[in-house]
Amino acid sequence: MIRAVPIGIGHYLPDRVVENAEFEKTLDTSDDWIRDRSGIERRHFAADGETTSQMAIAAARAALDMAGLAANDIDAIVVATSTPDLTFPSCATMVQAGLGMERGFAFDVQAVCAGFVFALANANALIISGQARRVMVIGAETFSRIMDWTDRGTCVLFGDGAGALLLEAQDGTGQSGDRGILSTDLNSDGRYRDLLYVDGGVSSSQTTGVLRMEGREVFRHAVEKLAETAHRALDQAGVAADDVDWIVPHQANLRIITRTAQKMGVGMDRVVVTVQDHGNTSAASIPLALSVGVGRGQIKPGDLLVCEAIGGGLAWGAVVIRW
Ligand code: UT7
Repeated sequence: MIRAVPIGIGHYLPDRVVENAEFEKTLDTSDDWIRDRSGIERRHFAADGETTSQMAIAAARAALDMAGLAANDIDAIVVATSTPDLTFPSCATMVQAGLGMERGFAFDVQAVCAGFVFALANANALIISGQARRVMVIGAETFSRIMDWTDRGTCVLFGDGAGALLLEAQDGTGQSGDRGILSTDLNSDGRYRDLLYVDGGVSSSQTTGVLRMEGREVFRHAVEKLAETAHRALDQAGVAADDVDWIVPHQANLRIITRTAQKMGVGMDRVVVTVQDHGNTSAASIPLALSVGVGRGQIKPGDLLVCEAIGGGLAWGAVVIRW
């Protein structure tokens, strides 16, 4: 049986770091409130003119370096983003050109904060069906470009960045001890559109729009749905929550991360947490956390990981990977 196995990981964060206290100058908010309600302490914002594709290219280069491969050694690029440079072409084809890749194919996936999980499921399907041998899966966002800077309920929560994971087809036994993606569980329910959306777009207003969120309601759905999707993915992989070495969750809110881990019966010593330093980077948050987790020495080859995320749509899902 073919498995999609991680062989490289990398990330990029823009230079500009914005501490919570900076928002106190322009908004009725405080460092204490932001830390207490979200766990966020700081986030990175892209420089003027710095784009999603540029950050994605930097993250992908780091993943290629780790794997010791060149751009033309990969067959496909999948970029998860809701903040592409342009309406079209896709961010992924811009990354393809930026890396100097002259073969294969590239496309974007848009499932907002769950985007990286959806992109991983797509990449896994390409690999196990034999359509691609090596796929670069990237989450990259510039959410700072779609903030309403007068809305304290949203603009203090998000950040910019990119993470990239390179997957390669390798033979496995079909058992849960195999390295690679062991299962995926994808879900969406479009009836919840109004809980989290951007109030502009090409065919409706011909504007970019800004993010709107019913934070409390999204929180409620997250707490309910994330442990469920993670459990389904673990069942499908034939492993138990006790077997999990690391939960690598979407980094939106430390309280959501903690409650999901509690519901799964996994201690916080087995959860990779980066939300304090990155804020919510939407589709970039899981690959950023994977890369930071590897860099910290938390995630090691052979570890069993479960990644879970929820966001606009609503769309949510989980992936079980043996690193
Ligand atoms: O990544 C996609 C998925 N997104 C998420 O997972 C986000 C989910 N939601 C959340 O993380 C949380 O709901 C928030 C962090 C957004 C908000 O936390 P909360 O505990 O749910 O607060 P709340 O929205 O219920 O607001 C509580 C109070 C309100 O004041 P009143 O109505 O009680 O007087 C807000 O107006 O806090 C107020 N508030 C703030 N106060 C200071 C909201 N934002 C701020 C702020 N500073 N930045």
